[in-house]
Amino acid sequence: MGNLKCPISMESTFFLLVLSCSVLLNLMDGYSLKDCTVKGSLNSTFMKVLCYKRQLRAVPESIPCKARVLDISYNKISVIKRNDLGDLTNLHNLNVSNNMIEEVEDGAFRGLAALQELNLAYNRLTTISGGFFQDLFNLTELRLNENHISDISSSAFVPLISLVMLNLSGNHLQYIHKAQPVFQMPRIQELHIGKNGFSSFETCQASNASLQLQVLDLSHNPLQSFRITADIFPHLETLDLAFNKVSVKWDVQDKNYFRNVDRLNLSGIQTGLKEMKIMLQTFNLTLSNLRLYYLGEQKAKSLAKEACLINSLTTLRLQSNNINSISENELRNCSNLRVLDLAENDLTEITALAFKSISKLNTLSLSHNKLSNVPIAIRNLSNLEVLDLSYNSITTLTCSDFTNLTRLMMVHIYRNHLSSVEHCAFQDLHNLKTLIMGSSRLFTLKGYFSNGLKNLKYLDLSNSKLNTIHKGVFECLRNLTYLHLQDNQIKVIEVGAFEGLQNLILLDVQSNKITQTSISASVFSGLTNLKELILNNNFIWYSSQDSLSEPPFKNLKSLHVLNIFSQGKDGMKNIPSNFLEGLTSLKIFWAGNLNLNSLHPDTFTYTPDLWRLDLSKNYLTTISPDIFMPLKKLSSLTMIQSGIQSLDFLIEANLNEIQVLLIRKNSIAVINETLETLSELFLLDLQGNEFSCDCDNAWFIDWAVSNNNTQVLKLDALKCNYPPNFRGNLLIDLDKDSCVVDVGLLCFVCTTSFVLLTLLSSFLYHFLKWQVVYTYYLFLAFLYEKKQQKKQTVQSFQYDAFISYNTHDELWVVKQLLPKLEGEQGWKLCLHHRDFQPGKPIMDNIVDGIYSSRKTLCVISRHYLESEWCSREIQVASFRLFDEKKDVLILVFLEEIPPHQLSPYYRMRSLIKKRTYLTWPKPGEDIQVFWQKLDAALEAKENS
Ligand SMILES: *[C@@H]1O[C@H](CO)[C@@H](O)[C@H](O)[C@H]1NC(C)=O
Ligand SMILES: *[C@@H]1O[C@H](CO)[C@@H](O)[C@H](O)[C@H]1NC(C)=O
Ligand SMILES: *[C@@H]1O[C@H](CO)[C@@H](O)[C@H](O)[C@H]1NC(C)=O
Ligand SMILES: *[C@@H]1O[C@H](CO)[C@@H](O)[C@H](O)[C@H]1NC(C)=O
Ligand SMILES: *[C@@H]1O[C@H](CO)[C@@H](O)[C@H](O)[C@H]1NC(C)=O
Repeated sequence: MGNLKCPISMESTFFLLVLSCSVLLNLMDGYSLKDCTVKGSLNSTFMKVLCYKRQLRAVPESIPCKARVLDISYNKISVIKRNDLGDLTNLHNLNVSNNMIEEVEDGAFRGLAALQELNLAYNRLTTISGGFFQDLFNLTELRLNENHISDISSSAFVPLISLVMLNLSGNHLQYIHKAQPVFQMPRIQELHIGKNGFSSFETCQASNASLQLQVLDLSHNPLQSFRITADIFPHLETLDLAFNKVSVKWDVQDKNYFRNVDRLNLSGIQTGLKEMKIMLQTFNLTLSNLRLYYLGEQKAKSLAKEACLINSLTTLRLQSNNINSISENELRNCSNLRVLDLAENDLTEITALAFKSISKLNTLSLSHNKLSNVPIAIRNLSNLEVLDLSYNSITTLTCSDFTNLTRLMMVHIYRNHLSSVEHCAFQDLHNLKTLIMGSSRLFTLKGYFSNGLKNLKYLDLSNSKLNTIHKGVFECLRNLTYLHLQDNQIKVIEVGAFEGLQNLILLDVQSNKITQTSISASVFSGLTNLKELILNNNFIWYSSQDSLSEPPFKNLKSLHVLNIFSQGKDGMKNIPSNFLEGLTSLKIFWAGNLNLNSLHPDTFTYTPDLWRLDLSKNYLTTISPDIFMPLKKLSSLTMIQSGIQSLDFLIEANLNEIQVLLIRKNSIAVINETLETLSELFLLDLQGNEFSCDCDNAWFIDWAVSNNNTQVLKLDALKCNYPPNFRGNLLIDLDKDSCVVDVGLLCFVCTTSFVLLTLLSSFLYHFLKWQVVYTYYLFLAFLYEKKQQKKQTVQSFQYDAFISYNTHDELWVVKQLLPKLEGEQGWKLCLHHRDFQPGKPIMDNIVDGIYSSRKTLCVISRHYLESEWCSREIQVASFRLFDEKKDVLILVFLEEIPPHQLSPYYRMRSLIKKRTYLTWPKPGEDIQVFWQKLDAALEAKENS
C-alpha cells in the first residue's frame, strides 16, 4: 500500500502545479471569463464585456484586449490601480459607476487611448488629480456626477481635448472658480454642474475667453447671485436654472450675451415673480422652449402669460403646477404656441374657448388630470396632431368629441373610465395613425372602427374588459399593422373576427380567456401577413397528442413568431401532433411552462425554418432526439428547468447549427466530449445544474476554460451536487490530479521494477548463490511467523463493505441499498460521498476504503462501466483479490447487460466468470430474495 500511495501523491503535487498554471493561463486566453459575460464573438470588433452586479471588490483580471465595451458598474470596487485596465487599447466605453471608488491612481487610464465614454458616476471620489485623465485624448463623454469631489487639479482636464459632455452634478465644488478647469476644455459643449452648492455664478470666475458651450446645467444650486459680465456664452442654447431654492439677484448686463439661448428651465425656482419676469426678459429675443414645473398655479399662470409675449416661444411646459382650470383669457397671448404641456395638474374643467387663440397648436398634453370628458375647447385646435388625454376620468366618447380634428395623427386616451364610445366618435379622424385606448371599461367593440380611421396603423385596446371579438369589427381598418388586445377577458372569437386585417403584422391576445375551442375554427384566417401571434397566458389545453381536424394556425403562412407559453393552471398538457401545421415560415416558438411531459415526433415536421425554440419549464426528462430531427436550422434552444439529465439527445439529433444553448436549472451531472460536435455553439448556460465533481467532468472543465468559441456563462460559479461531500463546491475547483493518474503509468512502474528486480536477482544468484539461498529460507520463516500471528488476532475492519457505484446510480444506493443494508441488516458501509476524507486524493481514498472494508460491493450499470474512475475501483479491488487471495468482491447488476456488451470490459467479464453475482430484480420479481442473497454474500467468509 505504501508503494501505491507514494508515486501518486508525488504526481498529484506535480499535476496540481501544472494544472493551476494552465488554468491561470487559459483563463486569460479562453472565452469564459471569470466574473464576466462576453457579448459578441471573440474576434469581433464589437466585443462587450459585462461584469456589472457581481459583488466585485477589484477590477476583474484578464479582460480580453479586444473589448470595446467594459461594464463593471454596481460592484464594490474602491480603487482603480495603475495597471488594472492594462492595455485595453480597443476600449471605447467604460462604465465604473455605482461602486465605492475613492481613489484612481494616476495614469490608471493611460492605456485607453481609444476611450470615448467614461462613466464614474455614483462613487466616492473627492479629488481629481493632475494625472487622472492622462492620455484620454479621444474621450468625448465623461460622467463624474454624484461623487464627493471638492477639488480639481488645474491640469486634470488638460488631456481631454475631445471632451464634448461633462457631468459634474451632485458634488461638493461650492465655488465656481474651483470648477474653472472644466471651462477651459476647448471642445466642451455640454456641462452639468448642478447640485454643487454654488451660491453665486459669475462669468469672471469661470473663464475670460469665449466658450463653445451649448448646454449649461446649473440646476439645484442655491444661487444668490447670477452675474454675466462678459460674452463667454455666445453659443449657449440651453440654460437650466431649475430648483434654485433661494432668491437670486439677476445681473445680465447685456441681453445679447444670451443671444442663442432658446431653451430655458425655470422650474421650482423660489425667486419672486417680479425678479423672474426680469429673468425672462433676458431671453426675449430667442426663447422657444420654456419649462415651468413646480411653481404653483398662480405663479405658473402669471409667468406663462408673460412668456407668451415672447414671439419666438413655441413650446410651453407647465407640468405639476396644481392648475385647476383654464379660463378664456389665460392663454390669450400664446398664439404662436405649437406645443402645450399641461400634464400632471388638477384640471377638472377647461372653458370652451380657452384654446381659441392657440389654433396653431399641434401637440397638447392633458394627461394625469381630472377631466371627466373630452374638453370642448380642443375643437378649436384644427391643427392638432398629437393629443394626450391619458390618466383622466373620461367615461364616454361622443360623436362631437373629435369633430374637425382631421389632422390628428395620435390619440392617447388610455387609463380613463371609458365605458361607452359612440359609433361616430372617430368619424373625422382620417389621418389617425395611432389610437391608444387601453385600460378602459369597455366590454365589447361595437361598430366604432367602421367610420374614419382608414389610416390607423396602431390600435391598443389592452387591459380592458372585452369578452368577445365579433365578426367584422376591424374589417374597415385596412391599414392596421399592430393590434393589441392583451389583458382582456376574451373567450369568444367569432369566425371572421380578424377579417380585413390583411396588413396586420402583430396580434397580441395574451392574458385572455382563450381556450382551444376559441381557436378551433379558423379564426385566424385572413391574416395573410401576420408575423407575430402572442397567445401566452390563456387557457388552451389538449387531452392528447392526437392530430386535430382543424389545426388552428393553418392559414398563417407568414407567421414568424408564435408565443403560447403558460396556459391555465394545469398547463396545455399536450401539443397535438399537427398543432403547428401551416406555419411554414415559423422562426421563433415560445412554448415554455406548458406542463408537457413529452412531444409527438411529428410536432416540428411542419416548421423546418424554426430558428429559436423555448421549451423551458416542461418536464421533458425522456425527450427523444427524433423530435428535433426536422429542425435543421435550429440555432437557439432554451430548456431552462426542464428535467434534462444529459445533452445526448442534442448530439444524437444532429443539431449542428446550435449557437445558443440555455439549459439552466436542469439535472445534468456530466458533460462529455460529444459536446464538441456542436461546432457553432457560442453561448452555453449551464447554471444551476447538478454537476458531479469527479473525473467525468475533467474534459468539460478543460474545454470550457480553454476554448475560444464557446462562452460558458458564469463558469466560475457552477456548483457541484455530487458526491455529497463536495456539494456546493465549485466545479472549476475540481481536483483533477487524480484523473490524470493513469493506470498505464502504474503498470509501467510495476513492470520496470519487476524487470530490474529479476535482473538483480539473477545477478545476485550468479555471484552470491549461497547467501541468497540462506536469505530465502530466512524469509520463508519470517512469513510463516507472520501467518501464525495473523491467525491469533482476528483482523478487524472498519467497514463491512465498500460500495463502488456511479453517481447516476446514487439515488438507488441512497434510497434502496443504504436503508436496507445499514438500516435493517446492520452492515457498516463505506460510501465515497459520505466516508471519503475531503482533501485527500481520490485514489488514496479508494485504496483506503477498499482495504479497510471486508468486502467490496460494485453496483454495476452501463454508466458504471463507462466511468473510468469506477473501473479503477474494480482494479484496486481485484488487485486485492489476487494479492490477498481473498474473495472480497460482490457484484450487483442494476440492469441486464448482455455478455457481448461486456466485451470491452474484459476485466469485468473475467471477474464475472469467476465470481457469483446478483441481479436487481425486474419489476414484479421478488425483491426479498435479492436482499437475502446479498445479506448472505456479505456474511460469507472472505477466505476462498
Ligand atoms: C472570426 O473568426 C472566425 C473563425 O474563427 C471567422 O470565420 C470570422 O470571419 C472572424 N470574424 C471577424 C470579424 O474577424
Ligand atoms: C481617436 O479618434 C480619431 C478620430 O476619430 C481616430 O482617427 C483615432 O484613431 C482615435 N485614436 C485611437 C487611439 O483610437
Ligand atoms: C421683448 O423685447 C421687445 C423689444 O426688444 C419688446 O418690444 C417687447 O415688449 C419685449 N417683450 C417682453 C415680453 O418683454
Ligand atoms: C368645424 O369647423 C367648421 C369650419 O371649419 C366650423 O364651421 C364648425 O363649427 C366646426 N365644428 C365644430 C363642432 O366646432
Ligand atoms: C394605407 O396606407 C398607405 C400608405 O402607407 C396609403 O397609401 C393607403 O391609401 C392606405 N390604405 C387605405 C385603405 O387607406
